[in-house]
Amino acid sequence: MKTVKTISEVRAFVDEKRRAGNRIGFVPTMGFLHEGHASLMKAAKAKCDVVIVSIFVNPTQFGPGEDLETYPRDLVRDQNTCEAVGVDLIFAPEASEMYPEGYSTYVDCEGEITKQLCGASRPTHFKGVTSVVAKLFNIVQPDFAFFGQKDAQQIAVIEKMVRDLNMTVKIVPCPIVRESDGLAMSSRNTYLSDEQRKEALVLSQSLEIAKNKIQNGERDANKIKSAIMDHIQSSPLAEIDYVSLVNVKTLLPLVVIEDEFLIALAVKFGKTRLIDNYRGQVSLS
Ligand code: PAJ
Repeated sequence: MKTVKTISEVRAFVDEKRRAGNRIGFVPTMGFLHEGHASLMKAAKAKCDVVIVSIFVNPTQFGPGEDLETYPRDLVRDQNTCEAVGVDLIFAPEASEMYPEGYSTYVDCEGEITKQLCGASRPTHFKGVTSVVAKLFNIVQPDFAFFGQKDAQQIAVIEKMVRDLNMTVKIVPCPIVRESDGLAMSSRNTYLSDEQRKEALVLSQSLEIAKNKIQNGERDANKIKSAIMDHIQSSPLAEIDYVSLVNVKTLLPLVVIEDEFLIALAVKFGKTRLIDNYRGQVSLS
């Protein structure tokens, strides 16, 4: 496995692999890899001949006052994780490689899809994500790119970008990987104190409560939302950013649970903002 820092080295590697007829899989990450990331690499490995992982803490997707400077980094540990899964190439550029002086072009997916959910409290976040992912797709030119359902809105936005801009890459969504007690794995979990870590279980528990209610026939989105909020508020350390029941594709709010829906939530513990979601389907009556 090689680690490279420049775009030209990625190009040279990809050109050679493509000429040999290989199918290229790509997993973009911000590093500090955990089993959630590893599951994407394994999915890529299963579907593709060559797997490329990018590790880049992308400054343009962090808002003012967010955790860009403190975001956890450990390239050596990440290299070991990638090596163990059988990744072929790591692209770990410096910010100056991706955004050289004078850089000024962005990809911005407009509309409700980036304004709802996380977009409401992070208004510039998705513009940073779509810009860097578009650049990475141009650099790597993968056949398939693998994304975690943990960031459900990110997948919806990237799928829309790929459709709108006629990109040829195919997006492969992968399931959420959780700790044994249910907490969705996240690089940001390392910020949590012991007390916050215990109380962070209200996220996955509240989604279980919602899932049970829906299985028992509840379709009123407000009632389900109230049950989720009540459970989260039972944790004194939790501060709700949003709890939303939306259509999976448009991310527009639902009054009645129908068809393919997404229950998404963001909750802050001190300065740490955690997200989780449940995606489900009910048959149309
Ligand atoms: P990052 O947060 O490092 O996540 C990289 C990928 O891993 C994303 O597709 C994310 O959804 C997935 N992932 C994270 N936690 C997961 C979990 N518990 N289970 C399954 N998948 C999980 O998302 C980003 O980086 C960035 O926005 C990026 C797309 C790299 C652009 O900078």
